[in-house]
Amino acid sequence: MPTVLILGANAGIGRALATEFASHHYDLILAGRDKEELVILAADLGLRYKVCARAITVDLGNFEMLESALRDCFKAAGDSFEGFVLCAGYLGSPEAAKTDLGEARRTLEINFTGSALALEVAANYFEQKRRGFICALSSVAGDRGRQSNYLYGSAKGGLTTYLQGLRNRLYHCGVQVITVKPGFVDTRMVFGKGKLPLVASPEKVARDIYRAVTARRDVVYVPWFWRTIMLIIRLIPESIFKRLRM
Ligand SMILES: NC(=O)c1ccc[n+]([C@@H]2O[C@H](COP(=O)([O-])OP(=O)(O)OC[C@H]3O[C@@H](n4cnc5c(N)ncnc54)[C@H](OP(=O)(O)O)[C@@H]3O)[C@@H](O)[C@H]2O)c1
Repeated sequence: MPTVLILGANAGIGRALATEFASHHYDLILAGRDKEELVILAADLGLRYKVCARAITVDLGNFEMLESALRDCFKAAGDSFEGFVLCAGYLGSPEAAKTDLGEARRTLEINFTGSALALEVAANYFEQKRRGFICALSSVAGDRGRQSNYLYGSAKGGLTTYLQGLRNRLYHCGVQVITVKPGFVDTRMVFGKGKLPLVASPEKVARDIYRAVTARRDVVYVPWFWRTIMLIIRLIPESIFKRLRM
């Protein structure tokens, strides 16, 4: 059976995606910071779907440990290792980040630096293997900067550009790179943010992501209608956009 590693599998979209891959008979490596929760999830999915699932600790904020932690588990996964999905991300408090440089730094480091470094480790592994896929969750927030979350949005925008370059690099050795741009998804990340429009469930988003991976897509908006919404938002002239409260 093919094996997929999901980083950020303990919660939200990553957790739903782990269930989705398990239901399609993928063995799983569930990675993240909350090892206790990941071990419980691995046992549950293993029992329910008769797959092999194990848990490992990876912290995107620990740059020193990132390479060795990921390399070890890629090696342990062996020849069946097919794909790496980066589901981890940090919205934090955009309001606090305006005055708290620690929070601003965390937002930038988790969503861009740590994410890009983890993806580099995966890229080097799959480049040698000459097959497989890398899928990462960026965000529609990266398509245009807005006052309500521009630190998070700029890190995601950087991640989207990084993934473009990575796709171009890995195309030549047969490795697929999929950029996923979710709109609002009903997870802990948006909890308490008030009434948001067009909120999708993590299960629906996970199904769309699984389909994008198997269809070997390049860039997907999930749900699909966010592509049109973001096209319209990107078309608003800057002289008007800067006056809006978004
Ligand atoms: N929800 C939305 O509306 C939305 C919209 C657009 C894009 N996205 C993106 O979708 C992805 C999944 O988000 P979600 O909605 O599922 O949010 P979530 O429920 O808050 O899950 C975020 C995941 O990221 C992990 N994470 C955070 N910091 C980490 C670190 N330093 N090292 C390793 N893992 C870390 C969390 O682990 P811990 O439990 O240990 O913190 C958790 O597993 C993120 O990249 C997010 O930016 C979400």
